[in-house]
Amino acid sequence: MTTTTPPTGTTGSRPADRPPQRPVRAAADELVDVSFTVNGTPVSIRVPARMHLADALRTLLGLTGTHLGCEHGVCGMCTVLIDGDAARSCLVFAVQAEGTDVVTVEGLGTRERQHPLQQAFSHHHGLQCGFCTPGFLLSSYDLLVHAEGPLDPQTLPEEMSGVICRCTGYRGILAAVSDVAEAHPEGVPEPMNCAPRTLVGRGGGMSRSALAEAPAEEVAEEAPTALTRPTGTPTITVTVTRQLTSPVEDVWAVMDDVDRLARCLPGAELTADLGGDRYRGRAKVALGPVRLAFEGLAQITGRDADDHRLALLAQGADAGGNRTAAEVGLRAVALLDGGTELRADAAVFLSGRIAQFGRALAGDVSQRLFEQFADAVDETARTGTAPEVGSGPSALAIGVQAVLAAVRRRARAARRALKGRLARRRKD
Ligand code: FES
Ligand code: FES
Repeated sequence: MTTTTPPTGTTGSRPADRPPQRPVRAAADELVDVSFTVNGTPVSIRVPARMHLADALRTLLGLTGTHLGCEHGVCGMCTVLIDGDAARSCLVFAVQAEGTDVVTVEGLGTRERQHPLQQAFSHHHGLQCGFCTPGFLLSSYDLLVHAEGPLDPQTLPEEMSGVICRCTGYRGILAAVSDVAEAHPEGVPEPMNCAPRTLVGRGGGMSRSALAEAPAEEVAEEAPTALTRPTGTPTITVTVTRQLTSPVEDVWAVMDDVDRLARCLPGAELTADLGGDRYRGRAKVALGPVRLAFEGLAQITGRDADDHRLALLAQGADAGGNRTAAEVGLRAVALLDGGTELRADAAVFLSGRIAQFGRALAGDVSQRLFEQFADAVDETARTGTAPEVGSGPSALAIGVQAVLAAVRRRARAARRALKGRLARRRKD
């Protein structure tokens, strides 16, 4: 297989100052190292020579904003910017990206700081299911950057015809692009979310971010700086109870000591006491091959020593755009046998890639986290000593257990369905 220059979109051209790309000769499945910049972050990954750029972005770098429709260069869903030009990433081998500067929809803006194009698409309702939207955003960005003079409403539909939308009308999309062109006659603003960050790889040993060891302050940039109570419907709500052997007063002593309480939570670590019952911390969670490191804030929002109740609010974000917030109520109730029932009610809000995990799996992980947490609280109440930071139960193991539990549950459901079908057939 021999590959050279990536194909670009219909507008724009490759910068003249970039040296010609060296040809790469490799067997289709041979692993090749490739280094390029994605949304401002230098990355080095090892890819099979036959892997296209869209797959590398999605599966190795976790940038799932680039969508795949036809994988034949027809639909334009997979459009990204390569060296400032729109390109169909399903038609570019990842190895062809060597030395280039790639911008995906994640680099265009964030939820809190949207690019004018994103705002205009939202304002004009230029999307329905949103599957084509990343392609349209980057294609229209390319169009506006390279337009010579004002856009012609007569030719705009044709100019935008490189991306296909299957479910919404094109009117909103065209209106959005026209608005942005009118609002920025001096040129559309550059992508607003291109800065070095840690990318979350998903390909096991195949993926490596050059900024995996990014300075803490760069990673922490994504972390929330103020706590806000989540609104809307939670992604999942969980209620779990666990019987502890320790008496309720000892359990409450742990609940009332935030430092010891945090140490009982698998993968969690308090990093700063901000005063006023507010804390900064971090937590690591693993779901199958996806490992996430959240930075965030937590606040004790209610404390009732007589009733042994604690309420807290926590919010976190990782550098890959995943966000989580949780409102948690903890209550310890004395049991007749001298032990304690610890109950947790949690409303969990997820956004970003982690929101794609099924509710059942997220529920399983929460359940197992709580079980481990409750056992650590029991142990701490009994011995008076909390686990060392980082020595708690492995969040990775919890994620794996939850995945296995979900698989077993599905297998049981499938067996039951099969038995039912066989029984019905026998009856017939
Ligand atoms: S997925 Fe690339 S053009 Fe359709
Ligand atoms: S909004 Fe659904 S495909 Fe375009």
